[in-house]
Amino acid sequence: MEIIQGKASLDLDLTELKERLTTYNRIILDLGTGDGKFAFCHADKFPNHFVIGVDSCRENLHEYSRAKLPNLLYIIASAQNLPQELSGLVSHVTINFPWGSLLESLLAGDIRLIRGLESISRSVTTVEIRLNGGALAEAGWSLEDGANQIFNNLSQAGWRINVPALMNANALRSFPSTWAKRLAFGRDPRAVLLSGCFE
Ligand SMILES: C[S@@+](CC[C@H](N)C(=O)[O-])C[C@H]1O[C@@H](n2cnc3c(N)ncnc32)[C@H](O)[C@@H]1O
Repeated sequence: MEIIQGKASLDLDLTELKERLTTYNRIILDLGTGDGKFAFCHADKFPNHFVIGVDSCRENLHEYSRAKLPNLLYIIASAQNLPQELSGLVSHVTINFPWGSLLESLLAGDIRLIRGLESISRSVTTVEIRLNGGALAEAGWSLEDGANQIFNNLSQAGWRINVPALMNANALRSFPSTWAKRLAFGRDPRAVLLSGCFE
């Protein structure tokens, strides 16, 4: 699978990946990681967690992927076609403020995304999905209806998801991702958190 460090693209095979993960119990996957700030902050704050940021777009990742943290890795991959090397490894998934085809797959209950996430998961994996009003409006949904649609899709897939919880401007301001900050100071500082687990 392709990983990125600064501007360099490298190949990492399963043996090398397992070597890097060997001392870590908790493995966090941040899907649609953007510039990778959230993944970096989490890895920096929790040195005993291993954090993997995944995005299909490499350009935004140049800065944070230069970081030399031993517990941080950035993979270039599409959410609908996650690398097989991750099979059975991940204990927690975050998807923060998705847009584009990642958001569309959540709204459509895309089986490639749902089964892909299940296949990289441990026996039980927890999940947190944060959705923002602007991205849902661009996709043709209100914040409430879009969040309910995704809640229903994931519930139908057998995931145990809590009822959507609102995030206000304060919650967005204190959330450590670039997009959260942008939203907090933008025109529509509202988001929704869907949290739960799947097996
Ligand atoms: C609004 S940004 C959010 C970035 C980051 N999570 C944050 O909070 O700052 C949405 C990200 O989703 C990524 N994305 C969209 N579709 C994707 C897909 N199919 N697979 C992987 N990443 C995708 C985009 O490239 C973009 O970086």
